[in-house]
Amino acid sequence: MKTKLIFATGNQDKMREIREILAGLNVEILSMKEAGIHAEISEDGTTFEENALIKAKAIADMTDAVVLADDSGLEIDYLNREPGVYSARYMGEETSYEIKNQALLKRLEGVEKEKRTARFVCAVAAVFPDGEIIVKRGTIEGYIGDKPEGENGFGYDPIFYVEAYGCSTAAMTREQKNAVSHRGNALRAVRGELEKRIQG
Ligand code: IMP
Repeated sequence: MKTKLIFATGNQDKMREIREILAGLNVEILSMKEAGIHAEISEDGTTFEENALIKAKAIADMTDAVVLADDSGLEIDYLNREPGVYSARYMGEETSYEIKNQALLKRLEGVEKEKRTARFVCAVAAVFPDGEIIVKRGTIEGYIGDKPEGENGFGYDPIFYVEAYGCSTAAMTREQKNAVSHRGNALRAVRGELEKRIQG
């Protein structure tokens, strides 16, 4: 029988990515909606790990399935790792990313490339029915460019450049980004742990 696994997100892109990365495992992957779970969870932790765990635990209390949740964001070194865990809330949830990205570029105006280092961070938490907890962190290192570029991706992708690709993550294809992204890396680490605990 397949193990039921719920990914605590309402985001369809994240669901697609997790299905791709966990393909081949003996699990039935459900979104919260598909599992019939509706919950508003406040992410009031101070780290990505804490927030991922808050979400996963809250949902795990409502089901016997394995529950996965993630939390992610952008850290800009020159800005003391802002916006960090506040990435979604930076300048207000309703503010467009065009405006948020322009504001960040403005705050970095005149700052030389070497000091514009940044990373996307993602923590993925897994809570098992017996209460066992696993949390894995994935990152992707890059820098903030001096102008937005690219039409793919979302959020801060247009201003986040990866040296090895010579472009922003918004200029990469979905497959290219998933292969090196913070979320991809964290999910692949969790896959390794699931493989040990879930019977094929
Ligand atoms: P959450 O993990 O869904 O709470 O999202 C955190 C926020 O971090 C998003 O709303 C984006 O602003 C930002 N973020 C996280 N991952 C990415 C990414 O891959 N590209 C661009 N922005 C991201």
